Amino acid sequence: MARFAFNPFRRDLPDWSAPELAFVTAIRDRVQLPLHRALPGYAPTPLRDLAALARELDLGGLLVKDEADRFGLGAFKGLGASFAVYSVLRRLWRDKTGADLPPERFADPTSRTRLGALTFAAATDGNHGRAVAWTARLIGQRAVIFMPEDTAPARIRAVANEGAEVRRVAGTFDDCVAECARTAAREGWQVIADTAYPGNLDLPGRIMTGYSTIFAEIADEIDERPDAVFLPAGVGGIAAAGAASCVLRDGAARPLLVCVEPVESAGFLESIVYGTGEPIAARGNQRSLMVGLCCGMPSLLAWPIVRDSVDLFLAIEDDEVPLAMRAYRRHGVVAGESGAATLAGLIALLRRADLAPARERLGLGLRSRVLVVNTEGATDPARYAQLVDAGPREESP
Ligand SMILES: Cc1ncc(COP(=O)(O)O)c(C=O)c1O
Repeated sequence: MARFAFNPFRRDLPDWSAPELAFVTAIRDRVQLPLHRALPGYAPTPLRDLAALARELDLGGLLVKDEADRFGLGAFKGLGASFAVYSVLRRLWRDKTGADLPPERFADPTSRTRLGALTFAAATDGNHGRAVAWTARLIGQRAVIFMPEDTAPARIRAVANEGAEVRRVAGTFDDCVAECARTAAREGWQVIADTAYPGNLDLPGRIMTGYSTIFAEIADEIDERPDAVFLPAGVGGIAAAGAASCVLRDGAARPLLVCVEPVESAGFLESIVYGTGEPIAARGNQRSLMVGLCCGMPSLLAWPIVRDSVDLFLAIEDDEVPLAMRAYRRHGVVAGESGAATLAGLIALLRRADLAPARERLGLGLRSRVLVVNTEGATDPARYAQLVDAGPREESP
């Protein structure tokens, strides 16, 4: 069963305070862009206009921000990891030399020589760890990445191929976060966590700021705002970056914001329904095809931003996802299971009988222009082949 909840906490003009305000301000000031522009392989990702798919869905328009090829990493996550690691290096550099480390010198070998050997650690379902490993390699440093034991071999290989040491942890993503924090504290490693928990607010904020490049690029490319924006949520970093960007740009006149999660890992929806305004851990079993969205506890930094700005929280079953992946493929977009989640949520919302009340209240129709983000390509090729290549060629969403 799909689930949904309209958000009683939503405000036209959220009144954010510390610590999240610092990152909303950083997003407004686009502080991450100079670093991203200095990275090898940086280019804005495509914003695809899928007019034919919009017609199939009885919508006025469908735009897809396609992150599948960001930095050649298969997902958007390099935007966050790079900016967080840069922030760490910049602080260490300032402490050591008294000078600033400009973005162009981030990958310069002199930083390695002056600062010595560092180890960056991260917990991941795959994409964030690969991005941290890629960034560490770029600056000649070491990465140790903690991954759930049952992670698909292709995802583990992708991290190891970036030169990182992979440590497999029995349990869920949340167990990896705890194990990574414990080991790093013992070893004196630098944790690059994408989720904020007490005592670890700064770097998740940098990561979120890094993701906001996606929305800065969209804002630079289109003048007319879409009517609705669908954002996925794992720990909530990309949802918070997207929501904050929309609030900063359009305030109360922002697009309708819809947050999509798997039913088995719907921490944001469940926290909203819980109703105190504080986040709670998802009660599902944390298992889903959408592995990147299997995070039980919302990030403490993403939570207030998402809580105050999103209109609708939607939790979908795994069986909505393959249809969306195939719809994408027919229209020339390669989307992995987590990547296709927002389109899957949109199709479910438009088609499912049990979501009719949400559909009617949201009011999406023939004149509506919707934006979704495809956050990853075929990061697990065997799964992609099974769900897409072996699936029907013709079907209507
Ligand atoms: C492909 C993909 N999409 C979406 C997300 C969700 O991002 P966040 O954890 O910032 O909510 C992830 C997280 O790993 C991911 O890998």
